[in-house]
Amino acid sequence: MTDTITQLMTDKTDLGRTVTQAVPRHRPLADGEAALAIETFALTANNITYAAYGDAMRYWDFFPSGHDGFGMMPVWGFATVTESRVDGLAEGARLYGYYPMAEELIVQPVHVTERGFFDGSPHREALPTPYNQYSRATEALGYAPDLADHQMLMRPLFFTSWMLADFLIDNDHFNARQLILSSASSKTAYGCAFALQQSGVRLIGLTSPSNKDAVESLGLYDEVLTYAEVEKVDATTPSVYLDFSGRGALAEALHDHLGSELVHHASVGSASTTDTDAVSDQLEPKPTLFFAPDQIRKRVGDWGSVKLYARYAQAERAFLERVSDANDPWMQVEEHHGLDAAAGVIRELVDHGGSARAGHVVRLR
Ligand SMILES: NC(=O)c1ccc[n+]([C@@H]2O[C@H](COP(=O)([O-])OP(=O)(O)OC[C@H]3O[C@@H](n4cnc5c(N)ncnc54)[C@H](OP(=O)(O)O)[C@@H]3O)[C@@H](O)[C@H]2O)c1
Repeated sequence: MTDTITQLMTDKTDLGRTVTQAVPRHRPLADGEAALAIETFALTANNITYAAYGDAMRYWDFFPSGHDGFGMMPVWGFATVTESRVDGLAEGARLYGYYPMAEELIVQPVHVTERGFFDGSPHREALPTPYNQYSRATEALGYAPDLADHQMLMRPLFFTSWMLADFLIDNDHFNARQLILSSASSKTAYGCAFALQQSGVRLIGLTSPSNKDAVESLGLYDEVLTYAEVEKVDATTPSVYLDFSGRGALAEALHDHLGSELVHHASVGSASTTDTDAVSDQLEPKPTLFFAPDQIRKRVGDWGSVKLYARYAQAERAFLERVSDANDPWMQVEEHHGLDAAAGVIRELVDHGGSARAGHVVRLR
């Protein structure tokens, strides 16, 4: 075993610039610590958003980089326990969870069960618990080996997509008859469109000209328009705006065009936000942050958590099967090897958003 591990750090002043850095390997482990060797992780615009909100929403605090001006962009992936001084957590256990782009993560597991554990490291204590949870990658817990890459890419996104669809259905779509989704090519947006297929409302996708054909070919939206075509949206129908793009000028144009027919504006993402094009909070109706944990809490109250997660698992399975359908896949997994390759993917995602049909997976082992 080498004395150092390599980590990929993000330049906070240029999120597309990442640099590798060797840092001392933390050994020996103390009682209560475990070492996880990171095997593979997914990269989408969502990870760039973590970095963009690194300070404001404390995403930089999960995995301190130890270097001023640099942060560790969090990713979702799989790791294996290589050394453990924790009761109930054996070497060889495989875990799905939130990781730094690095060769290894040291955790202090608490609440260790057959489902997994939470990282109780002091610096993570005040951070949102869903990000501190590590789940054992067993079939009994919904891990699907045949769809592992798709699941790793989609789970953090589709859970939000599905909860958002459920929130809309639960609120009778705010009495709207059409839903307008920006960054319609993003996995989170089209996951939401998939979950709303049977809900009886018209779905309009807004996207970049370069992604229009790809979005149309999904067959999920009743109409697909480019950002320059906002005026073609039917302005005589009560509408809800689901904003995955975070484009300020687009939001303003849509509000102007729809006027009082716009009954709700949900802010879900900022896939292509730049500092100079932020969404104004002076718009009417006021953009409302969609916060999935609120709807989760509501449904745990309505249904109980067992039924909620059983329903989610069924929806996720149907979505993953459609996304990976060999005859007409919605997403092609693109494999990259090593942290240097990850740096190239990140540059492309920040500068251009990546290819709409690609799902990037990085392997470290
Ligand atoms: N609130 C939550 O809990 C939550 C959870 C999951 C995801 N999200 C958010 O949802 C959004 C989509 O994430 P994702 O991972 O699903 O995205 P994705 O599949 O990687 O898709 C990215 C899309 O974003 C647009 N885009 C991004 N960067 C761009 C750039 N530099 N130039 C031009 N277009 C760019 C493009 O769509 P168009 O051409 O169609 O605009 C692109 O196809 C993100 O903001 C993410 O943070 C939020």
